[in-house]
Amino acid sequence: MNEHSPETELEAFFGPRPAEPQPLQRLGIVVSGSLSKGLDVKLDQGTVIEGLAVGRYVVVRGQTGRRFFSMVTDVQLDALNPLIEKAPPDTSDPFLARVYQGTAVFGRIHITPMLVLDPLPSSPPMGASPPSSPPMGGKEGGREPKPVKTIPAHFTSVYPASEEEVALIFGQETEPGHFYVGDPLEMEGVHVALDLRRFVERSAGVFGKTGTGKTFLTRTLLAGLTREEVAVNLVFDMHNEYGWKSQDEAGQELKGLRQLFSTGQVSVFTLDEESSRRRGSKVDGVVRIGHDQIEPEDVDSLSSLMALSDVQVGALYFLRRRLGQRWVARLLDEDDPLEELESALERGTIHGGTLGAIQRKLGMFRRFDFLQRRVPEDPVRQILDYLDRGVNVILEFGRYGSSLEAYLLVANYITRRIHAHYVKRKEEALGERGKEPRPLVITIEEAHKFLDPAVARHTIFGTIARELRKYNVTLLIVDQRPSGIDSEVMSQIGTRITCLLDDEADIRAVFSGISGAGALREVLARLDTRQQALIMGHAVPMPVVVHTRTYGTPKFYAAMGVREAESPEAVLARGRAVLRGEGNGEGF
Ligand SMILES: Nc1ncnc2c1ncn2[C@@H]1O[C@H](COP(=O)(O)OP(=O)(O)OP(=O)(O)O)[C@@H](O)[C@H]1O
Ligand SMILES: [Mg+2]
Repeated sequence: MNEHSPETELEAFFGPRPAEPQPLQRLGIVVSGSLSKGLDVKLDQGTVIEGLAVGRYVVVRGQTGRRFFSMVTDVQLDALNPLIEKAPPDTSDPFLARVYQGTAVFGRIHITPMLVLDPLPSSPPMGASPPSSPPMGGKEGGREPKPVKTIPAHFTSVYPASEEEVALIFGQETEPGHFYVGDPLEMEGVHVALDLRRFVERSAGVFGKTGTGKTFLTRTLLAGLTREEVAVNLVFDMHNEYGWKSQDEAGQELKGLRQLFSTGQVSVFTLDEESSRRRGSKVDGVVRIGHDQIEPEDVDSLSSLMALSDVQVGALYFLRRRLGQRWVARLLDEDDPLEELESALERGTIHGGTLGAIQRKLGMFRRFDFLQRRVPEDPVRQILDYLDRGVNVILEFGRYGSSLEAYLLVANYITRRIHAHYVKRKEEALGERGKEPRPLVITIEEAHKFLDPAVARHTIFGTIARELRKYNVTLLIVDQRPSGIDSEVMSQIGTRITCLLDDEADIRAVFSGISGAGALREVLARLDTRQQALIMGHAVPMPVVVHTRTYGTPKFYAAMGVREAESPEAVLARGRAVLRGEGNGEGF
């Protein structure tokens, strides 16, 4: 630039212009493709192919100013002349290697366009160099990203997505109801915010093999739902990982939700007071269920686990009618002669073998100390009181977490009653005789046990998943075997967050009912073994792969509003710094 240019004169007058953001480096150009199969992109000479992992988020800047938001779904090598494969050149000379790279041989990526954003009226004309950061406007400007219905022309340029573009698609984490859940691949520091309001509108699932980070991710999501007060949560905490402290695989201690939030926000209930006390967990209530509170439907939900036949299940209802409210207590009492039943047995209404089998199978309940002959309080009433006040409830299972029967029994027992209460409240609200109940999210682990095809049709969790949010109740299911979940229920799971899965049937299950799933399979199969997840469905405008937000760092706790207690040494050091005149004394 010439010394006397108007620019320099202006700078002399007004001071230097603020530095322009660095233009994004072009990755390559579109060379072929179709709407149904996605686009092939020839990489530019300077683009390092190894830096382009599947799952990465790129943007094709169309010639009319349209932007096609896309995901890398395959990476390939290609050559101008196929013979080069037979006689590869000597590339020990770096100069020669450079000459070949990008001309005779080059990289290609396959990308799948997911969304398109129409240009702003002031977009640069065709052929202009790309803006360093795209004009903002997006949702604020009334322009929603739309589904892709066309493709960009030949030789259109492809760029990595910028931070602004990620925010444009997913929303800013500072917007109410949005929560930062992770960073897109190769874009560390750029925050993908999940729209939690949409997240709770339908049931959601967190899937992945064991050890991939499902529990950590679920805890992060629950922290978000609590902080943003989008819904109230009821968590059936099988392994005591959500309420009070737990450990990661390296043995480092982590705070649970009860430690991150105040008593008025999160409460912990337990089925096993002793275990909670041993772990130092602060408990707000102990759940005990009376024998006379159990209904045949509660036992029915365990039918496949207890191997109850249809005849035996039918007999449960019969026994309840004949024996009254104390039916379970009487069946469990070995000294009770059950005379009333004898006549029924004689008349052949119920088979002697059936009764014996039921008594034997129910015998397992004797091991559950939380089941007692009579209990003074109603645990469901207590939990509902908390939920109605907007306090999240985490139910720790203590030692009973290792018994799937106990987990299923209690989760079904409580959920059935809470759901009934919600249905009543919602109907009252519709009839304008009451207030809408707060949206409730129920979290269950090992979800396929609740939702396998044999039980999902007639148990409460299947019902909740199917009726969507009609009664303001949705599920957050955590599972490592999604293929075990009834396909009809799976198709109702709105948002699916999937960590690594390698079983073919599980992969098929999480993609059921998702359009364009073919291309995403490669992405899912190549996630890292932990802390990476593919998020797709109702809560995100387009599928996205993220490195999930790290749970358990002081930074995370601070973002949740926890003020770390400083060690005495740190306080002393800060004091000395102030005395030396180095600090501002803040906090003293
Ligand atoms: N978001 C995260 N922040 C910090 N550490 C994480 C995160 N995700 C995963 N990890 C690490 O991975 C380990 C396994 O995660 P997690 O316990 O959540 O797995 P999981 O999928 O729930 O396994 P399982 O099916 O056996 O319950 C954790 O102990 C932790 O060390
Ligand atoms: Mg887990």
